[in-house]
Amino acid sequence: MPSGTALVCSGIERYLGEDEERVHALRGVSLTLEAGTVHAVVGPSGCGKSTLLYILGLLDHPDRGQVTIDSEVVSDLPDEVLSRKRNELLGFIFQFHFLLEDFTAQENVMIPMRRLARLTESEMRARAAELLEAVGLGSKMARPSRHLSGGEQQRVAIARALANDPRVILADEPTGNLDTKNSTRAFDLLQEVVVRGGKALLLVTHNPGIASACDWIHEMQDGRIVSTHPRGRVAVVS
Ligand SMILES: Nc1ncnc2c1ncn2[C@@H]1O[C@H](COP(=O)(O)OP(=O)(O)O)[C@@H](O)[C@H]1O
Ligand SMILES: [Mg+2]
Repeated sequence: MPSGTALVCSGIERYLGEDEERVHALRGVSLTLEAGTVHAVVGPSGCGKSTLLYILGLLDHPDRGQVTIDSEVVSDLPDEVLSRKRNELLGFIFQFHFLLEDFTAQENVMIPMRRLARLTESEMRARAAELLEAVGLGSKMARPSRHLSGGEQQRVAIARALANDPRVILADEPTGNLDTKNSTRAFDLLQEVVVRGGKALLLVTHNPGIASACDWIHEMQDGRIVSTHPRGRVAVVS
């Protein structure tokens, strides 16, 4: 199982928008994610949580600072290398899962594998089937995703995020549109994958129950992490 430090970011700054609309969205954010740990980012709307996830996920460049994954500085790489790194090292889960609704659950999970192009068609099918079994959707993998419930669709999105066995999983309010039972189930699944696979998970959440079950909670305000505390010491969760 992989161990050590999965991801480090240091001194991340980001400006967004133009002219008078320009916002200093991140004002020096530093974080270390060890393998096998689960981190929550909490904070009011507009404090920079999604901007941070986009940068850690190599979907956006910081104006200052660096992102290091598995001891390699990745934030400065050219775009075509970045997109390969993204595919190999990172899994994303968004509030709105962005599944292709006419594709089956299995085909959706195969999409990141196709991009990486390491497995044969039958290997991809088998791996997608295994991942869907693991999220409790083994019997529904041939259904177009639009014929699945919201909770089931989010579990397909979790399986898709795990498709290429990422080092780091980033989740932006992954349970935001699920009821309590489905939220808990999705979170438990993620937590298990992280611990078992020696991955690191950073998730943005407004759910105090989920935040308090994470190993670390980082509170953000106005583009900064203003406090970090271990499990069991929850202050304010907005
Ligand atoms: N594309 C953009 N152009 C200009 N400002 C943006 C853009 N995206 C986000 N912002 C601003 O950056 C700040 C941080 O946004 P965001 O990271 O989405 O916050 P959060 O996810 O915590 O709600 C907010 O003030 C938001 O209005
Ligand atoms: Mg957001």
